[in-house]
Amino acid sequence: MKIIHITDLHFGPYQWNGNNDKLLERINAFNADLVFNTGDMTTDSLEDEFQQAHDFLAKIKCNNIVSILGNHDKFSRRSHDFFRKYIYDGQFVEPKDRSKVKKRRVYMNKDVVTLEGYLYEANFVRLFDIKGKKVMVVALDTCVMHQHTGFMEEEILHTISDIIKRTPHDCILMLTHHPVLSTDNEPLYSSKHITSFINKHKIGAVFCGHTHDVAMIKVNDILHNHTYRQFICGSMSGRTTVHDVNMYCSYENFGEEDEKIIITRMYPEGEDINFVDTAVEKDGSIANISGNVGQGNASDL
Ligand SMILES: [Fe+2]
Repeated sequence: MKIIHITDLHFGPYQWNGNNDKLLERINAFNADLVFNTGDMTTDSLEDEFQQAHDFLAKIKCNNIVSILGNHDKFSRRSHDFFRKYIYDGQFVEPKDRSKVKKRRVYMNKDVVTLEGYLYEANFVRLFDIKGKKVMVVALDTCVMHQHTGFMEEEILHTISDIIKRTPHDCILMLTHHPVLSTDNEPLYSSKHITSFINKHKIGAVFCGHTHDVAMIKVNDILHNHTYRQFICGSMSGRTTVHDVNMYCSYENFGEEDEKIIITRMYPEGEDINFVDTAVEKDGSIANISGNVGQGNASDL
């Protein structure tokens, strides 16, 4: 199974000055089975930013692209409508018991807004057949309208638990915009609910964004006898990379013994991009495998 993980594209005023066509060429050359886009595809949740994100994603040659909302994508009352219109219009998870919903503004008040969708959450579950394997992808909406910090509605996790139980699958991968394990100063306050959910359903990996850093963590939960990994793949094409450059990650034979993880950093050089690939070895060491390091230090993780 080949996966590409991209995040924090930030169309709008935070978009980088690199050549997106060259970037797409490079992404398409990998021929991924799954592409995960873990949120913040816009800067201000504006319609033209969602449109630009759509246009970019539509040029990725992969039938299985899964995108989720980030905090920057949820700064408008129209965010959910724009997400449906430009990014994904599938079936969203309704909380089993509405009276137990605690998260702020999960529901919009139909009496005061004229939006089509009043459920202001984009949680969903998708099932993909990848080389004969049923891969379930659980996409969680950790964002709260008009906030940078995250919160996960527990009642929605309960509802998704029921979906998981009644849907045959071989493995589960999860997407959240806010990291579950490592946090920054805009953290996910209810990460405990999600780590319990990961242990309960033996979820093998969670892919996140938000921090604009690259981080790969393996957890061995002793009490639950469960090991899982969290991947954060930096920012792909935003200007807001303070500690590093733009990057994305690719995975070959994901979850297999011969798994290969590559971090691809990108240095715009006029109309061209200097791509620098770094392999993450099994022992956690990294090796520069192609490209010339431009400004910045490609081995600085
Ligand atoms: Fe974010």
